[in-house]
Amino acid sequence: MRIILLGAPGAGKGTQAQFLMAKYGIPQISTGDMLRAAISAGTELGKQAKTVMDAGQLVSDELIIGLVKERIAQDDCKGGFLLDGFPRTIPQADAMKENGVVVDSVIEFDVPDEVIVERMAGRRVHPGSGRVYHVTYNPPKTEGKDDETGEDLLIRPDDEEATVRKRLGVYHEQTKPLVEYYQAEAKAGACQYITIDGTQPVDEVTALLAAKLG
Ligand code: AP5
Ligand code: ZN
Repeated sequence: MRIILLGAPGAGKGTQAQFLMAKYGIPQISTGDMLRAAISAGTELGKQAKTVMDAGQLVSDELIIGLVKERIAQDDCKGGFLLDGFPRTIPQADAMKENGVVVDSVIEFDVPDEVIVERMAGRRVHPGSGRVYHVTYNPPKTEGKDDETGEDLLIRPDDEEATVRKRLGVYHEQTKPLVEYYQAEAKAGACQYITIDGTQPVDEVTALLAAKLG
């Protein structure tokens, strides 16, 4: 199963990725997590990406396309994969097509901007695994600690309100056009397109997803 998760920052892509990975036994390819790992490791790529990410902008298509191409070629992606945060621009989607990467399902999480701003304020993340929590809506079993490892949870530097609003602007301008792009692909029979009401509680969104995917 090859899946693309579409949706604004904070729409719940990373949260629902946990369910989809388990359901289909496929790896999550989160370009945001890959870039954050590069920043932590202090690589050249990480240094380039950090300033851009902290400003709420997108890193260059060229850099991201190269990163994803390399990742998809790895053995664990042979049976499918879950793309979370990629593609995010029309050139990124075109690059996938040009490289012969076909997908089975595109899942869009629909969530209004104001709901997102509130969600981001309470987000906590476990950098090692990509697991995502919310202090109110999806709290860890122990405050400030990851459920599985007991390690500390962190606040993402780009979750400050002003940066979130910037990211939402970038989403509407550069990523939202992919909704029509993939709806057209689905109409042509290239993939399935699913829209999910992402404003429901986490478990309900998972149930909606399970029902639509069958
Ligand atoms: P990335 O890490 O991909 O961030 P994003 O797309 O902005 O999405 P988020 O991770 O913020 O949100 P999410 O949808 O995963 O929501 P989550 O499940 O965490 O990218 C970061 C940066 O990297 C970009 O800004 C860019 O600079 C760069 N980048 C990455 N990919 C790139 C690309 N392809 N091209 C160029 N640049 C790229 O949920 C959010 C919060 O809400 C959590 O607290 C969660 O617990 C809570 N929550 C989730 N679902 C619910 C629910 N149903 N009800 C209540 N609360 C919920
Ligand atoms: Zn995410």
